[in-house]
Amino acid sequence: MPSYAITGASKGIGREFVRQLAQSPSNTILALVRSPSPALLALAQSHPNIHIIKNADTTDPSSVLAAAREASQILGDSSGGLDVLIHNANSVNLDTFALPPSKVPFDLEATRTFYEVPARTAIWGGAWTTNAFLPLIEKGQLKKIVHITSTMADTDFILGSGIDYALAYAIAKAGMNVQVAKYAAELAPKGIKTLSLCPGWVDTWESPKPPQLVEAEELMLAQFRKVEPDLKGQISVQESVSQQLKVIDALDAARSGTVIKARDFKA
Ligand SMILES: NC(=O)c1ccc[n+]([C@@H]2O[C@H](COP(=O)([O-])OP(=O)(O)OC[C@H]3O[C@@H](n4cnc5c(N)ncnc54)[C@H](OP(=O)(O)O)[C@@H]3O)[C@@H](O)[C@H]2O)c1
Repeated sequence: MPSYAITGASKGIGREFVRQLAQSPSNTILALVRSPSPALLALAQSHPNIHIIKNADTTDPSSVLAAAREASQILGDSSGGLDVLIHNANSVNLDTFALPPSKVPFDLEATRTFYEVPARTAIWGGAWTTNAFLPLIEKGQLKKIVHITSTMADTDFILGSGIDYALAYAIAKAGMNVQVAKYAAELAPKGIKTLSLCPGWVDTWESPKPPQLVEAEELMLAQFRKVEPDLKGQISVQESVSQQLKVIDALDAARSGTVIKARDFKA
């Protein structure tokens, strides 16, 4: 009866994890959200194995601890432990997203704003979430902690594509990768495996795309093709999550602490 907790589960990749995992009635799924979307509520109504935990803001330590307490109560009715934690929540500062490093301002507060938003979900939030759920993971059978990272943090990819924007986001995900490796080093004696998992370039937009977004995605595709000439475009959220779940299933001690691109994974 595996159990899974997923942060940022109200939409996009997070909600698709919930949807796919819920198809197996023996799974218990804890969907951690700041506030549930109508689509997640509808999913939970038709799947009794989905438990929504609200007010789970991963940038707020007390809210993460409260979410872990609620998770413990829910899991107490089944095995008592948590098998897999998936830290998927993410946010970016769109005001500075397009800027290259030479535009980092000579102002302490403005610089903090520039870097803090993605770091607070990826690095600080990654640590708070992992630490809050660690006692449950220790009691679980599978003992897996997965943080969702991005190829944007891969320096070979940056140099090959020439992408100079998404600076704070890429740095936050690079920090996430290092932190996940540190967790692997720390937690190996307890049999806990960790992983930074790249979901690919995924279409999570749920309404008609505005022309600026279509234009930006065309530019990104041209940049991505410098690294991967055959890339066709974004993949569906269903395809991405199905690939990611195969990697999570195969996560073992030998792969713990590494960064894996879901699409390239061979078991
Ligand atoms: N899509 C891609 O192509 C792609 C590529 C590489 C990596 N990734 C990574 O994959 C993960 C999911 O991406 P996505 O495309 O599905 O993103 P998304 O559609 O923007 O969804 C992000 C989720 O994170 C939640 N969130 C944001 N701030 C939060 C906070 N402080 N506390 C709790 N939850 C918070 C959002 O909640 P609300 O609903 O409340 O806003 C939302 O549910 C992210 O880590 C992202 O960096 C995505």
